[in-house]
Amino acid sequence: MTERSRTMAGEGSIVLAIFMALCLCNTATTTPNMGWTVAHATFYGDMSGNETMYGACGYENLFKQGYGLETTALSQVLFNDGKTCGACYEIQCYNSTKWCLKGSIQVTATNFCPPNYSKPHENWCNPPLQHFDLSQPMFRKIGVYQAGIVPVLYRRINCIKSGGIKFEIKGNPYWILVLVYNVGGAGDITDVKIKGSCTDWIQMSRNWGQNWQTSTQLVGQNLSFQVTTSDGKMVQSDNVAPADWKFGGVYEGKNFQ
Ligand SMILES: *[C@@H]1O[C@H](CO)[C@@H](O)[C@H](O)[C@H]1NC(C)=O
Ligand SMILES: *[C@@H]1O[C@H](CO)[C@@H](O)[C@H](O)[C@H]1NC(C)=O
Ligand SMILES: *[C@@H]1O[C@H](CO)[C@@H](O)[C@H](O)[C@H]1NC(C)=O
Ligand SMILES: *[C@@H]1O[C@H](CO)[C@@H](O)[C@H](O)[C@H]1NC(C)=O
Repeated sequence: MTERSRTMAGEGSIVLAIFMALCLCNTATTTPNMGWTVAHATFYGDMSGNETMYGACGYENLFKQGYGLETTALSQVLFNDGKTCGACYEIQCYNSTKWCLKGSIQVTATNFCPPNYSKPHENWCNPPLQHFDLSQPMFRKIGVYQAGIVPVLYRRINCIKSGGIKFEIKGNPYWILVLVYNVGGAGDITDVKIKGSCTDWIQMSRNWGQNWQTSTQLVGQNLSFQVTTSDGKMVQSDNVAPADWKFGGVYEGKNFQ
């Protein structure tokens, strides 16, 4: 058996198992295809999306940063301490003719839906639940507002972003913090390295969300970056920031396809 046919056989039996489960319930409005997982979705904030800004991924004004209203917060198991920030999902409502609208949405993970262990009900962001807390405009594209919560099917998709990866440089001369956003491809960053014109590649560490840090002093040097995403792909952007880069500045590199 080739690697490919083994994979397909594996996926085939999972699909068959899901299909058989659905036939038993006999209430399905959509048949899950290969790669779709069952979860639930709610929404937070109003139609303006104001409450979705400055979330746990470290992104700031989501309109300015290109994410817009097409965003979601993730339950604890999906959020994975912020490692999934920037991942993209396609989501469709599932198994309710009453509450579901047709079609699917594509969203980027920008925030955390915290668990609450003292809540007897509505504790859908607690482990082990897979849950999407969408911006209200996104929820209302796939579900009826009055539903509050709907079952969904979701799958990871490639992130389509326009322009290059953006590097917002914050911190101070002794501690550089870089927010990495607008990442295409898999979207969720697993590794960032930085290089000054007078240094080798320096390993950065995740501070929170998609904020990456180093205490190497790099003021006055050109900055280059290597960004690796969860699929193992890496994009290198040379001399993204000129030698006179400024704290608070945003610099643009290359992007994944
Ligand atoms: C957005 O929320 C902030 C507080 O988080 C508030 O100061 C501001 O007035 C809100 N803007 C709108 C348009 O609701
Ligand atoms: C579909 O919905 C029905 C009733 O709302 C529920 O009993 C059933 O468990 C659901 N099936 C799946 C696969 O989620
Ligand atoms: C957790 O849920 C309880 C009960 O609903 C509520 O009183 C409390 O404010 C919640 N805690 C947080 C941090 O949201
Ligand atoms: C710094 O970057 C500029 C382009 O932005 C380039 O012309 C120059 O050679 C670079 N300097 C070093 C030392 O890499």
